[in-house]
Amino acid sequence: MNSGFLILDFGSQYTWLIARAFRELSYYSEVLYYNESLDVIKKKKPLGIVLSGGPSSVLTNSSPRRSVNELLEIAPVLGICYGMQLIAFQKGGTLSSSSQKNYGLNEVYWKKSLIPNLNKQKVWMSHGDSLQALPPKAQLLCRDSNSLITAFSMERLLAFQFHPEVSHTERGKELFEYFAFKLCKAPPKSWTKQSRLDFVISQIRKQVPKTKKVFCALSGGVDSTVTATLLSRVLGVPQVLCLFVDTGLLRKKEYEEVLNNYRSLNLNIKGVKAGDRFFKALKGVLDPEEKRKIIGKLFIDIFKEEMEDSKYLAQGTLYPDVIESLSEQGDVIKSHHNVGALPKDLNLKLIEPLKQLFKDEVRDIGKSIGLSSNLLDRHPFPGPGLAIRCIGEVTPEKVKILQKADFIYIEELKKQDLYDKIWQAFLILLPIKTVGVQGDSRTYKKVISIRAVTSTDGMTADWFPFPPSFLQKLSCRIVNEVSEVNRVVYDITSKPPGTIEWE
Ligand code: XMP
Repeated sequence: MNSGFLILDFGSQYTWLIARAFRELSYYSEVLYYNESLDVIKKKKPLGIVLSGGPSSVLTNSSPRRSVNELLEIAPVLGICYGMQLIAFQKGGTLSSSSQKNYGLNEVYWKKSLIPNLNKQKVWMSHGDSLQALPPKAQLLCRDSNSLITAFSMERLLAFQFHPEVSHTERGKELFEYFAFKLCKAPPKSWTKQSRLDFVISQIRKQVPKTKKVFCALSGGVDSTVTATLLSRVLGVPQVLCLFVDTGLLRKKEYEEVLNNYRSLNLNIKGVKAGDRFFKALKGVLDPEEKRKIIGKLFIDIFKEEMEDSKYLAQGTLYPDVIESLSEQGDVIKSHHNVGALPKDLNLKLIEPLKQLFKDEVRDIGKSIGLSSNLLDRHPFPGPGLAIRCIGEVTPEKVKILQKADFIYIEELKKQDLYDKIWQAFLILLPIKTVGVQGDSRTYKKVISIRAVTSTDGMTADWFPFPPSFLQKLSCRIVNEVSEVNRVVYDITSKPPGTIEWE
């Protein structure tokens, strides 16, 4: 890692936003677990190190610790929330705990502003403990509306009680710029479109010898397509065996469209129709995690059958997956089967050339290597497909209902220029029936929920506020054109507390 920033994660839900903040300033950034070895950190030669927030209290003995002085010998340090408290604690400040959390929007008043014309600032806070007295030699920068210390600086050190990385904090980006340029003296921007592409290509060269065959399972989405296309360009088309599986759980007409796309990209692609196998394996299964595991295992079985003598498996894993798995620490929310689910006996080397990139960075690469906007701007589609949008048991009949309705939904979104304003839009078939009336007769039919979210990385999301006229038209078309459905509802849950998919 050259010319980049390191973030040590103490368990904050906002850590990935800190990583993004530096990427947006055009610097490489990387998140490591808070107790990563000093040697590893030194070798990365960071320009600056950030200590993230976290749920613990520095006043309890079991809280995560590491020496700030040791880090300061490597680079300037920025502490955020828990990170600030850790710095204050080690440098001789006085902290006190409170059972009441200071959570949400607050206002701070700057005594010594770091950026021009900043006196008063709206900031996002999320802390229990607070700093009562500064460490010796520290300079007070600002206090909040309760007069609590909310920022201070020391030699090569900057510390904020609030979260500059959260969008609710005003001018947070400028505070990161101050840290990067004034404190860390960062050289000219280094994480550019070209350097990202060079970085990914160098990863491929480093990980796969030119004569080896790589197996790449494709999903139809941007990440795996960019992965396969770059691999094919670096290693040669015949060396990269690409596979697209029709699980029977894809969107309507998707299998043929995606295969044609791949053929036009000149990939060495093979399509396998396996819908019957997936439905058979899912028969009678209701539990979401069990469904995911069965689908994951079947994918692996099919890979084994198709991968010939290849010992390398390429996947389009992205950086948010890596960060999420760092902070989950065993608390699995959903078993995504991009990584981790590979059985050891397969003896495969995993190639993940996009592992350090965010989605928008991958889309940029896709654009620069000439992928069509039709492919690049597709909404993400999960590996387990419509199975996790068909709540309860998955049957071919239910999937067909979902496919018909989903086709109408996407068609309407495109017709009304809404598709590109949304990160992901899909429908969920509920396992209940409700009473309705159609053509003067009583009906007792299925319910479909509309879901649409905006997001940058899928890690947090807001529900999309459709105009009522759109909802009216969509609902009307679905109940008229999909004879098995008589009711349409609208999911207005953000992430968190919900997740994007329902299962
Ligand atoms: P959740 O539901 O976890 O979804 O908020 C976040 C994003 O991940 C997608 N997703 C998956 N993608 N395999 C994938 O490739 C999976 O198993 C999987 N599960 C969820 C989801 O569609 C959303 O974009």
